[in-house]
Amino acid sequence: MIQMWDDSFAVQSPPIRAALDAGNGIRAFELMHSELDKVWREVERVLGDGCIACVNIGDATRTICGRFRLYSNHSRIIQAFVRLGFDVLPAVVWKKTTNAPNKFMGSGMLPAGAYVTLEHEYILVFRKGGKRSFRSEDEKRLRNSSAFFWEERNHWFSDMWDLKGVRQKLINPGLRDRSAAFPFEIPYRLINMYSVYGDTVLDPFVGTGTTIAAAAAAGRSSIGVEIDSALLRVIADIVGQAVQVGNERITSRLRDHLSFVADYQKSKGDLKHVNDYYGFPVMTKQEREIVFHALDTIERSPDPSSFCTRYSGLDIGMGEGSCEPSRLHSGDATGIQRRPAKGGNVIGSSRPEGKGVYPAGLEKLNASGWTEG
Ligand SMILES: C[S@@+](CC[C@H](N)C(=O)[O-])C[C@H]1O[C@@H](n2cnc3c(N)ncnc32)[C@H](O)[C@@H]1O
Repeated sequence: MIQMWDDSFAVQSPPIRAALDAGNGIRAFELMHSELDKVWREVERVLGDGCIACVNIGDATRTICGRFRLYSNHSRIIQAFVRLGFDVLPAVVWKKTTNAPNKFMGSGMLPAGAYVTLEHEYILVFRKGGKRSFRSEDEKRLRNSSAFFWEERNHWFSDMWDLKGVRQKLINPGLRDRSAAFPFEIPYRLINMYSVYGDTVLDPFVGTGTTIAAAAAAGRSSIGVEIDSALLRVIADIVGQAVQVGNERITSRLRDHLSFVADYQKSKGDLKHVNDYYGFPVMTKQEREIVFHALDTIERSPDPSSFCTRYSGLDIGMGEGSCEPSRLHSGDATGIQRRPAKGGNVIGSSRPEGKGVYPAGLEKLNASGWTEG
């Protein structure tokens, strides 16, 4: 029930237009969510057991026919996922950067008709089925190499994200804010938190392609579904930025880790474990196999709706065949390609090829890193 999407919904369902024109906000709200419910059903169908669905959604306040009220999108979406049998996991509140922190709505300084402003959105988190299991040696190896640093865990798994100071939206000068794109960091973090190398990430509302860029940066395959085929050009542009943005993010993760290590050593002493690949100290045994895959190139495939990401460096099993979703119990992505959300076209997908590791310049960091620093 977010005003900028009224037209998109009204085109998909004429009764929504009628409800909005009649000033029936509650009916329009329910009809819009019925459209979304169809997508959530598809998400449930294609996700593997143990896989995680994350939904970034804000609530909305609107005055319709003189009545101001909140339309609580996030609670309606939680209901939809519960009905589909998902387990609700703790959600993240994303504190949005607002240009007008003191802005208020309603009756100004007079009680009782002033309203608090909405300065956050939610990232709802759901799990299909029970906990995901990693049984085979290959599955365990991919999981271990996809681990995150201890200090990242403490930061990322807070239920309050304030992304001030992190890289915001990927740049498309022609687009401004019409796309409602989220910052690269949101899908990048979520992908690292909830999937492993070799998984396929699905974004059924891919918009400008931020999720595809983030998935490529995180060494995952991805499928994006988008109803507005005019966005294909924008997606190509945004995904094209994945090499630079992704490698910068890997570099910053490694640098941040090295400065965490330096601070820790200064104040508390030595860390107990060493990362097998990079040779630097890590806090826990679980971080020993962490390895990043630097992106070499990301190119449109002969099929113009897909991209191919190549990685450089060591082979830890990201080669042909290791990304098959069925093998890793990820979503049945081909299913959604055959049967996208109503009216939707699959217009972007990306699949890692080859091997991975250091972004250019990081060999230097490795050579002159913490041990000599
Ligand atoms: C909020 S935007 C997503 C922005 C995206 N996260 C990004 O970073 O660019 C939602 C997108 O969903 C698309 N959309 C709406 N209904 C759809 C449907 N039924 N199937 C596929 N895409 C749809 C819209 O055209 C819009 O581009």
